[in-house]
Amino acid sequence: MIKTIDWRDDTVVMIDQKRLPREERYLTCKTHGEVIAAINDLTIRGAPAIGIAAAMGVALGMLRSPVTSPSVFRETFDDLCRQFRKTRPTARNLFWAVERMKAYFSRIFPPDAPFDAAFLRRSLADEARRILNEDIAINRRIGGFGAALIQSGDAVLTHCNAGALATGGYGTALGVIRAAVGQGKAIHVFVDETRPVLQGARLTAWELMQEHIPATLIADNMAGYLMFRGKIDKIIVGADRIAKNGDTANKIGTYTLAVLAQAHGIPFYVAAPTSTIDLETPAGDAIPIEERAPEEVTSWGGCRVAPEGIAVFNPAFDVTAGRYITAIITEAGVAMPPYDESIPAMAGQTRLNEGC
Ligand code: MRU
Repeated sequence: MIKTIDWRDDTVVMIDQKRLPREERYLTCKTHGEVIAAINDLTIRGAPAIGIAAAMGVALGMLRSPVTSPSVFRETFDDLCRQFRKTRPTARNLFWAVERMKAYFSRIFPPDAPFDAAFLRRSLADEARRILNEDIAINRRIGGFGAALIQSGDAVLTHCNAGALATGGYGTALGVIRAAVGQGKAIHVFVDETRPVLQGARLTAWELMQEHIPATLIADNMAGYLMFRGKIDKIIVGADRIAKNGDTANKIGTYTLAVLAQAHGIPFYVAAPTSTIDLETPAGDAIPIEERAPEEVTSWGGCRVAPEGIAVFNPAFDVTAGRYITAIITEAGVAMPPYDESIPAMAGQTRLNEGC
């Protein structure tokens, strides 16, 4: 299995996604600052993977922090959490993972507890590793639910990379495809290249080729023509944040695909863990959308492709209204419209499971 991120010998090791597919190189982060830089520059990306990196980054920061007093230890922890929350604004999983670390820290270090820095540090690292392992198990469950929606012979279009590389392993949208293939179904995947930074061409194409899953790469602007020609049976994508009413933020270009899918009568599925659901955001218009550097649009591979001085708009994500989404597949099952009922129920169900 592709190892996206791991905790090894008190460092955080991640595959460098900026270098794929040209080079399979691993980056070893020895400080939390290196993990923050890796999240910001897309060395690691994809909502669940960013969450795992943040949890590990907080644990790493605590491991390297000087031990002075319990109050400084607590302040250091809070400061680390604040720093990671500032990295990328859209992926709900990042905030979920930081909140989970905070809740865990409060449990293992309540106000009057004795101060045992070694125990606390070790426990935080263990919790971050649990988040990683749980994510892989969750993706397998998503795959199991999603595969039931895919028939042998289907041509499935996907956008961006919602695979092993975007998660702890196995993937969400690609996890569904992996699970369907694992059941012996013949699937052909159409891969959107995903401008501007080509997560589809570089990462999804690489992942599918690693596993010999038949795939065809297309430029983003070819998807509508393929739908018009009747070449696409289903579309499946991941998600960065799902609002309470089912509106979903995902890689820029997802909305265009969803509208086209509805125009052509093609089912449009979102696959995501419940940690992507944000019940505090009532609808998609309240989801914060990250805007990234203009160079992602004006240059490629360090080579300028647009004239100097041209104005650039570079939102990394868009929002697809729930009315365009056929179903949302999570580890707790498949949510169907009306999402303002099914999404809160599904998120609640997971909380109950966690409590058990
Ligand atoms: O900017 P990125 O590469 O982090 O964007 C990633 C996506 O939009 C993915 O589709 C999403 O995070 C789901 S990953 C399982």
